[in-house]
Amino acid sequence: MNTIEKSSTSLQGVRIALGISGGIAAYKAPLIIRLLVKAGAEVRVLATANALQFTTRATLETLSENPLESALFSSDKPIGTQHIDTALWADVFLLAPTTANLIGKIASGISDDVLTSTLCAFSGPVMLAPSMNTNMYENPVTKKNLKFLRSIGFTIIEPDIGEMACHTHGVGRMAEPERIVAEVCDFFASRKLGESKVAKNLAGSGSFAGQKVVVTAGPCREPIDPVRYISNYSSGKMGYALAVAAREMGADVTLISGPTNLAPPDDVAFVAVETTSQMQSATLAAVREADLLLMAAAPVDFAPTTMSTSKIKKTSSELEMKLSASPDILLSVAKAKSSRLVVVGFALETDDMLENATGKLRAKDLDMIVANPAGVSDAGPNSDTNRATLIMCDGDVEETQLLSKRELARLILGRVQRLQDLRASRSVSEGN
Ligand SMILES: Cc1cc2nc3c(=O)[nH]c(=O)nc-3n(C[C@H](O)[C@H](O)[C@H](O)COP(=O)(O)O)c2cc1C
Repeated sequence: MNTIEKSSTSLQGVRIALGISGGIAAYKAPLIIRLLVKAGAEVRVLATANALQFTTRATLETLSENPLESALFSSDKPIGTQHIDTALWADVFLLAPTTANLIGKIASGISDDVLTSTLCAFSGPVMLAPSMNTNMYENPVTKKNLKFLRSIGFTIIEPDIGEMACHTHGVGRMAEPERIVAEVCDFFASRKLGESKVAKNLAGSGSFAGQKVVVTAGPCREPIDPVRYISNYSSGKMGYALAVAAREMGADVTLISGPTNLAPPDDVAFVAVETTSQMQSATLAAVREADLLLMAAAPVDFAPTTMSTSKIKKTSSELEMKLSASPDILLSVAKAKSSRLVVVGFALETDDMLENATGKLRAKDLDMIVANPAGVSDAGPNSDTNRATLIMCDGDVEETQLLSKRELARLILGRVQRLQDLRASRSVSEGN
């Protein structure tokens, strides 16, 4: 059994310029600074004038242990070229929160304050966490600007779906500070790994350009009555990380998702489903043309045999409900799949993990299964990290240490590539 080395999640010695703009989530910026400093980073904070309506100079300076940069021209200090100095100093520019206004300004090259001027002079990697009301986020101009920024190499830390300050519910909520800092750590870990042998081990050599990849993610819901359902704890994080990693590796990605709190990643065909049979139909339709299926969703195994059309009343102390097995998506894919389709399943197990996962791999004719333990705090459905055992159809077993879900996603895709390369070379040597 091989063991994959844990990548570093430290930011020791990393110099971060943190740009804060005037969205309500600026009140969370002090926590981002705290987490960055705790991870070992040196932080200089730049704030727009509007950002300081939501957070204070004293908090930002105390936590970053550096003077706040909030004015290009200041009456209380000598005028200088601090914006160039900070641009040359920083290893990465993190923008969190990033308003629709700031996104528009950056995409147009506007540099009319200390933040945008410093950013304009900065030539390193930029990561930004959008934060705004759903209508602002879904405004075609904001979408176009984000797409452009991604196309020039900016990393977008996708917002969450959730309750907004304006009391609406939808996409646009800034990613939580813990996720933002984890993504920065992850960025530097994969950069360091990029120079080492482990990187090749993690990411594989080629890309998925020209390949159609289908990812399923999140939980399914099976209705009991119009107001209740049976579901599970799946957050969708692993599936969404796989979709983003496959897209970054050049694949044409379809993400079929049950209800989650995650925003659909950009440049991915998104199919929203609710029940297991809806997920089955969407998956069978999508895999017809696909090269790879990553089945990271958590369908519901047993669903109520009938759905009550009206709300079941609490008239007695017990309720008996008959459940019947839901469609087995992987089994139906196994029956219908083309010879080129590679299928990767996932198994979340409480007991006998290896034995159960290997049984599932064989029963469902999978090419690989990713087994992970249930009931541990740093792995499994809701965690941002995961440890997994990859079991290949040829019997090879590989155990990872604790990785972020993004790292694990890249590792899985690297293993799929290795499998595809092996099959291609066998097919050539057999003269097919
Ligand atoms: C209470 C309040 C909350 C706001 N929250 C946001 C927000 O979360 N995201 C956003 O893009 N704009 C938000 N705005 C609007 C911005 O403050 C406005 O677009 C401003 O010009 C942004 O300036 P800046 O990008 O230079 O910081 C908010 C405005 C107010 C009054």
